[in-house]
Amino acid sequence: MTNNRVVFFDTTLRDGEQSPGCSMTTQEKLTMAHSLESLGVDIIEAGFAMASEGDFAAIATITQAIRKPRIASLARAKKEDIEMAARALQFAERARIHVFLAVSDLHLEYKLKIGRAEALDQAGESVRLARSLADDVEFSPEDATRADRDFLVEMVRIAVEAGATTINMPDTVGYSTPGEYGLMFREVRERVPAIEEKGVVLSSHCHDDLGLAVANSLAAIEAGARQVECTINGIGERAGNAALEEIAAALYVRGDRYGVNTGIKLESLYPTSQVLGQIITFKPSPNKAVVGDNAFAHESGIHQHGMLANPLCYEIMTPALVGVAKTNLVLGKHSGRAALRHRLEELGFSLTRDELQHVYYSFVALADRKKNIYDQDLIGLLTDNIRLRRHEPVSELD
Ligand code: KIV
Ligand code: ZN
Repeated sequence: MTNNRVVFFDTTLRDGEQSPGCSMTTQEKLTMAHSLESLGVDIIEAGFAMASEGDFAAIATITQAIRKPRIASLARAKKEDIEMAARALQFAERARIHVFLAVSDLHLEYKLKIGRAEALDQAGESVRLARSLADDVEFSPEDATRADRDFLVEMVRIAVEAGATTINMPDTVGYSTPGEYGLMFREVRERVPAIEEKGVVLSSHCHDDLGLAVANSLAAIEAGARQVECTINGIGERAGNAALEEIAAALYVRGDRYGVNTGIKLESLYPTSQVLGQIITFKPSPNKAVVGDNAFAHESGIHQHGMLANPLCYEIMTPALVGVAKTNLVLGKHSGRAALRHRLEELGFSLTRDELQHVYYSFVALADRKKNIYDQDLIGLLTDNIRLRRHEPVSELD
């Protein structure tokens, strides 16, 4: 029987860091790892020990400072990579060696230049070696979604027999669709009974080339995956990885559908996104779900009116749920009188209906000319308006 706890495997410091402009120093990775620990992720993939001295140092440093989440290092299915990962992880409270090997014919032929039989041998041998060095070993058949299904099943069977404790089936190039991805998990689970018998965890790992990474991850969870690999702000190779904050929020807001629980502290989502933004010096786009600047901003008059009457009209979660200070009723040319009155009242001005009407006309005229309306603009409008209505002369300075 599948349990209902989904493990969050964060790979911001490994796959996320592989994104252009996102490389981090050891100190920056450590800062980020502390944030991820506070956020409640279960596993932090801290790097790829064999990739560089910097990655090795970052993994080793993180294992000594972070005690709660399990720390993982990526390794190719090669002796030297696996031994290097084990060395980087030697001081971890709880360690995981994450071994990957291509499974699609395309990757085997053009990238690795090996045949299927050799790949199966490498998969078995590398997982056995990793298991002799760590009790927790994840195996990823890379490019699983473009692989021949029978061959994928065969490779998974061998990895499970060799002792893999987690099988991660990556959509390496973001090619899959939710229906297909879910089906792959169901089929592999059915055709490799040892997964169930040995309590091996199935894991999703999705890239966003078609904008489907989060949808695919959720489909995998519906199909029984109990680990999800993701990154903060969805950073990662090319179009990025599945965004952690979106998966966590979806599992919570649509708990009626997914019925699973996680260790993620939702109120830390926005602060963690901000920490990453400061480290890599770029923020997610304003319309990014959950953590973008506009995720809780409303400009149109109809929406603002609805929000003031009852926030549920246009928000499916409160900003506070994910650690955002408050809803932002942005004043712009689509705003209505209700939002204008609300903002003026926040600024300490209480206007009659008639006064509001006058100020509103000037406000719309200004908003047509100006992209952002600041509080100072509103105060300016108010004083102008009141002065005009009292027939006071406008000074030359105005
Ligand atoms: O996208 C991918 O296939 C990966 C593996 C190394 C897990 O990142
Ligand atoms: Zn990846």
